[in-house]
Amino acid sequence: MKLSLHFFCVYFQQNFVRDAMDFSLSEEQVAVRDAAREFTQTQLLPGVIERDTHARFPTEEVKKMGELGFMGMMVSPSYGGGGMDTVSYVLAMEEISKMDASSSVIMSVNNSLVCWGLERYGNDAQKRKYLEKLASGEVLGAFCLSEPEAGSDATSQKTTAVDKGGFFLVNGTKNWITNGGSAEVYLVMAQTDPKLGHKGISAFIVEKGWEGFKIGKKEDKLGIRASDTHSLMFTDVKVPKENMIGNPGFGFKFAMETLNGGRIGIAAQALGIASGAFELSLAYSRERKTFGKPICEHQAIQFKLAEMATQIDAARLMVMKAAYLKDQEKDYADASARAKLYASEIAMKVTVEAVQVHGGYGYVKEYHVERLMRDAKITQIYEGTSEIQKIVISRGLIR
Ligand code: CAA
Repeated sequence: MKLSLHFFCVYFQQNFVRDAMDFSLSEEQVAVRDAAREFTQTQLLPGVIERDTHARFPTEEVKKMGELGFMGMMVSPSYGGGGMDTVSYVLAMEEISKMDASSSVIMSVNNSLVCWGLERYGNDAQKRKYLEKLASGEVLGAFCLSEPEAGSDATSQKTTAVDKGGFFLVNGTKNWITNGGSAEVYLVMAQTDPKLGHKGISAFIVEKGWEGFKIGKKEDKLGIRASDTHSLMFTDVKVPKENMIGNPGFGFKFAMETLNGGRIGIAAQALGIASGAFELSLAYSRERKTFGKPICEHQAIQFKLAEMATQIDAARLMVMKAAYLKDQEKDYADASARAKLYASEIAMKVTVEAVQVHGGYGYVKEYHVERLMRDAKITQIYEGTSEIQKIVISRGLIR
């Protein structure tokens, strides 16, 4: 696919070097963004408050997202995906997150953690068996790294996978797994050689329903309440040898590489939450009157809107830069950590301000901004907390 969103491209023309920045989107990218916007308004908005209130998984909505091609956007068409670039993916993520961050995290995990990891590092048989169904949205995937005692400290994996000849015997517990109950395909990190530390961790594909694989309790969450987050228990689960991704000991690297891209998706989600809250605040401030004029004519509100818009603009540039670098196959680990760190921090700030702009109305469900504020918080936590992003960024600086 042709990419026209060039942030830092250099043109060599007529014996001189000219730096050019082209912020325009291709027709295809605009079409993707508009389709996601339309889908959000017509399909996600109507039930979003009810799904949040009752923590009800958006089964029908996710099915439609699959039909529209949002569940495997970057996967090659030869494996049933959309063959799109990361820029298109973040545009869709932003639009969907403006109103429904629960649906967007379901989408993000399936696209960037499960499909991307499988396409990049799985073998052809694994892709034929699993990726095609995942990319078309026929089934959902989950990414299982976190454990009760291994969240930020992800190298401390306690789940084990013991080589028994034709299969591995997997034992352990995973925590806070997005799509935990709704997925059919699980990418599971487990220790195959504990004495090697993180170099002894391997990655496996596990199917729902295998003997000994139990889905634990669903978490009752502050935000993204319509997505399902579960603990998972593995007791002597037999995983066939052919379901190992890559070589033994590749699992931690697999997880880290996959998360580098995943963080772009979550940064786009945070950006969407912030821009959704901003758009609602701007519209409300034009309508709501106090002291004889719309509140957008009061400087107190104008300053808030100006700050929100500026922060969102900066976050969008960082998210797009990370997506662009990934599309160019350049190193994007640092850019994705920075984008996630900044976008999630401003998502929190912007949504708190959005509630303030709405006053009492902002505190009730009908106006959406209280939900966006609750949803924003998780973007500072999952796929690496803000503190972990700072570790990634500072290690890059020192190196
Ligand atoms: N990209 C590629 N490789 C990386 C990497 C990155 N971002 N970060 C670390 N690595 C590699 C290192 O190069 C090193 O490899 P070598 O041994 O070959 O040199 C190896 O991983 C171990 O790294 P460290 O020595 O730096 O290990 P550490 O324990 O000091 O720190 C960490 C690692 C960066 C803190 C890591 O544990 C981490 O990222 N933690 C956060 C985990 C996380 O993001 N969890 C999210 C769960 S998934 C989720 O939330 C999904 C969902 O459901 C929404």
